[in-house]
Amino acid sequence: MALDAPIQEPGVHCLHNKKPKRRTPTLLGTVLTGAFLVGGAAFGQEAVTPEPALEVNAARAELGKRLFYDFRLSGDTSLSCGSCHQPDKAFTDGLALSAAYTGAAHFRNTPTLANVGFRDAWMHDGRLGTNLNDTAREMITETYLMNMDMRIMQERLKQDRKYIEMFQAAGMSEPSNGGARNALMDFMKTIQSRNAPYDTGQMSAAAQRGQTIFEGKGRCTACHIGARFTDDKPHNIGVPDNPDIWSDPERHSAFVTYAKFFGVPNYMNLREDLGAYIRTHRDETRRSFLTPTLRELKWTAPYMHNGMFQTLEEVVDFYDAGGGDDPLKDARIQPLGLVSSEKSDLVAFLEALSGDSFDIDAYVWREDDYDYALIEDWRNVSN
Ligand code: HEC
Ligand code: HEC
Repeated sequence: MALDAPIQEPGVHCLHNKKPKRRTPTLLGTVLTGAFLVGGAAFGQEAVTPEPALEVNAARAELGKRLFYDFRLSGDTSLSCGSCHQPDKAFTDGLALSAAYTGAAHFRNTPTLANVGFRDAWMHDGRLGTNLNDTAREMITETYLMNMDMRIMQERLKQDRKYIEMFQAAGMSEPSNGGARNALMDFMKTIQSRNAPYDTGQMSAAAQRGQTIFEGKGRCTACHIGARFTDDKPHNIGVPDNPDIWSDPERHSAFVTYAKFFGVPNYMNLREDLGAYIRTHRDETRRSFLTPTLRELKWTAPYMHNGMFQTLEEVVDFYDAGGGDDPLKDARIQPLGLVSSEKSDLVAFLEALSGDSFDIDAYVWREDDYDYALIEDWRNVSN
């Protein structure tokens, strides 16, 4: 059943719409195609996406949802995507620096997956820019993440009858690793913000004053623009380095693995995260990181690529002081001279960009059906 595309125009939801018009209540940012509707909030309530809708195959997204919470996607079955991207935290994990594969620890903060299908580039350094299938591949195969050999993954999936059925329902003849990545991609496209006070026209007076500061005196819209509040580009704002990356051998070794892979000179002696530099190798991009979305901040602390700030108050104080100390800092980051009421208004505005929890059936595989009966006499059974 093919459904009509949203009626929205790109850019309808601009920052100056203090009280955006209520839009058609269904399928705003997602065009679903395929055998059946997944059902649930992403499809039944207001999603906020000004960009052209994302095309999603419903049966593939449903398969992706099951895969997302399946621990068999990591080499030693210790992690699922949902271990780090937790639905009750807008698909983050509450840690400054993420966990990682057994024996490793990560050197980055887990980003939210809210509206992730609309990004132009992914990862804090923007090193992936093609599509979400690539991000799934990176997460699954990277040694310090899920450390999974995709040929083994494919064989694991083939042992599970439910997957065999779900791949068929999604138009694929049998479980394959390419199909699994496409399914994860479609599931991630369904993860869209809903019902933030900013969108429903229910912002408090403080939040409305905060919006004026955000767009005016705060100069925040230089980088945080559009309905997702990001230009998807890297900037250096001088966030201080997180010393845990260098003092914890498990984190440091993960970082070295990454820096070596990207051909960063002198990577063994490096004691800073170079951000976008790893892919551009241009000096002026050192320590620049992609502008994150400002949606769902209520759920996603701590903040920044390395989790250096615990609260939005700390973030606002950081900007008020003119950002961090870095010779390559973006010239638009200047001291703001905000008084304390202006700071709390700005925080109120940032909070008003958070919507409903993602911990609902539409985004969580609730059935505990990952176990399956062993096949007796398996040598004589065909698959
Ligand atoms: C061990 C924790 C962990 C697991 C497991 C994990 N992720 Fe991630 N994910 C991260 C971290 C950390 C980053 C940021 C990495 C970076 O910037 O280098 C990230 C980044 C991403 C991004 C890019 C988001 C953006 O806005 O740039 C996507 C998409 C993503 N993960 C999807 C997945 C999927 C799908 C899975 C399962 C196949 C998965 N992740 C498993 C920790 C994890
Ligand atoms: C020059 C571009 C630029 C400007 C101007 C700017 N930001 Fe940012 N913002 C960024 C970048 C880049 C990051 C991520 C930095 C990092 O991860 O190290 C960021 C991160 C943030 C975060 C953390 C989000 C998260 O999920 O970790 C918040 C909150 C934020 N900015 C709010 C603001 C506010 C409020 C203003 C105005 C006072 C502002 N920004 C001005 C580029 C900018």
